[in-house]
Amino acid sequence: MSDRELLGDACTRHLDARSLRAHVEALLPVLERYWSDLERRPVRAQLAPGHVLAAVPSEIPVGPCTAEELARDLEAIVLPALTHWQHPRFLSYYPATTSAAAVASELAIAAMGSVGLQWASNPAATELEIAVIDWVLDLIHAPPDSPFRHRSGMGGGLLQNTAGDALVAVLVAARIRHHRRAAARCGESPDGEELFYRDSSRLVVYLSEHTHFSVRKAARVAGLRTHVLRPARRESGNYAIDAEQLRAAIAADRARGLEPCAVVLNVGTTNTAGIDDLASMVGLAEEEPGLWFHVDAAYAGAFWVLPEFREDARRVQTLATSFNFNGSKALHCGFDSAFLFVRERRDMKAAFSATDHYMAPSRDEDVASPELKDWAVPLGRRFRAWRIYSVLRSLGAAGIRALQREVLGDAEWLRAKVRASALLELVVESPFGLICVAMRAVGGEAQAEFLAEVERASGQGALFLAYPSEVEGRRFLRLATGGSNTRREDLARVFEALEASVLAVAARHSAR
Ligand SMILES: Cc1ncc(COP(=O)(O)O)c(C=O)c1O
Repeated sequence: MSDRELLGDACTRHLDARSLRAHVEALLPVLERYWSDLERRPVRAQLAPGHVLAAVPSEIPVGPCTAEELARDLEAIVLPALTHWQHPRFLSYYPATTSAAAVASELAIAAMGSVGLQWASNPAATELEIAVIDWVLDLIHAPPDSPFRHRSGMGGGLLQNTAGDALVAVLVAARIRHHRRAAARCGESPDGEELFYRDSSRLVVYLSEHTHFSVRKAARVAGLRTHVLRPARRESGNYAIDAEQLRAAIAADRARGLEPCAVVLNVGTTNTAGIDDLASMVGLAEEEPGLWFHVDAAYAGAFWVLPEFREDARRVQTLATSFNFNGSKALHCGFDSAFLFVRERRDMKAAFSATDHYMAPSRDEDVASPELKDWAVPLGRRFRAWRIYSVLRSLGAAGIRALQREVLGDAEWLRAKVRASALLELVVESPFGLICVAMRAVGGEAQAEFLAEVERASGQGALFLAYPSEVEGRRFLRLATGGSNTRREDLARVFEALEASVLAVAARHSAR
């Protein structure tokens, strides 16, 4: 039998409307069941490594399978092996918030199957991306003449896979801008690739010890040295670096013959949701026009949509050469959706512009048709803009604000319970949806016992999942609330489990 005979109908129908319906109809009930019984599943998969590997055929199957068989594989093999990020009591890392509109949009994106290499290859993708980026700027109170808007013709925004990708793009662009400006100061205009081969070994990027490790990775990729500053615990009860520290670090580096190139500041660190002292940085940015100031707000930037954070959003937009935040961590846009905003698009284009004969001629200077391939690393770009459009359009600005308020309200409710508890305490005053909690005022050994007890009480992730972290040698639990399905009653169950864990440790100690 030939391959063609073996495949039969499956080959000719693999991309027709009937086949699409068959796959969707087979899949939908599985997903409906999954969403309906999600809460009753253990948050973390209760299985040993190798389970999935053993469950799938060890060699590629020769013949085709039906849509029903495929849906059964998903239900029987994949779903039980998931760590359920959308579980109401998933409190680890930061959430990957999503929504039904985001999920359905992915089907549409895949069905369109159109790749956004450049405007001509998918005009809808480029133009929707511009539209939604400007919507996001509306949400975070950017003025109509903001340089970060595409319509300004100066800067703009684009969607990236993740914050990590955005950070790489920014630091590479910062390095090239540094060399470009240095060359201009010497009256040189390097041609071709020459700018990219310049010695960067003296160039420094400044960051805090609490900055996400993605920034250190990005600096490595960009070929920049890092100068890591130690954040201090401030009046807010959280950790931040300020302009005075940065000024001193810059002066010390210059004295050693190094060249400051970029600074990455935090709004919402991963460990404690700390915010660097941006107010003090505004003056420094004016003193140091050659430094690229990037603000990583991967998690917390989404909360700028609320009027009470309007001033923070304004400060970032005054200070930053570029900033990023994710549409997934707290904006219900689904993974992956990282927004990157740049003040000057020419800085990105100087680093990433590239083309060849087989590309369509472009009208790049038109506001409606920027060549986003020239702003960052990838050429082929997913049509994520349809997902962002779907979510923002279906929820509207008011819906998004209402969801954010709920997250902040629930987190504040839990914080108040911890503050009032005789057994637990807040290790750090963390804002937004993050709560940093430990057993009240005890040292190393009992705290370690407490964390082990929490692990046991959580059924190793069966009831809830939150990984311990550490700050200044003190271990604590990071409760990252704000998941799309997390409700106050889920937080209440977690709180009860934490208090019960303290009591169990205390009972063991008093029995000794
Ligand atoms: C502040 C911050 N920056 C960067 C990242 C990296 O995010 P991504 O997974 O989008 O690369 C994270 C991830 O949690 C983060 O919290």
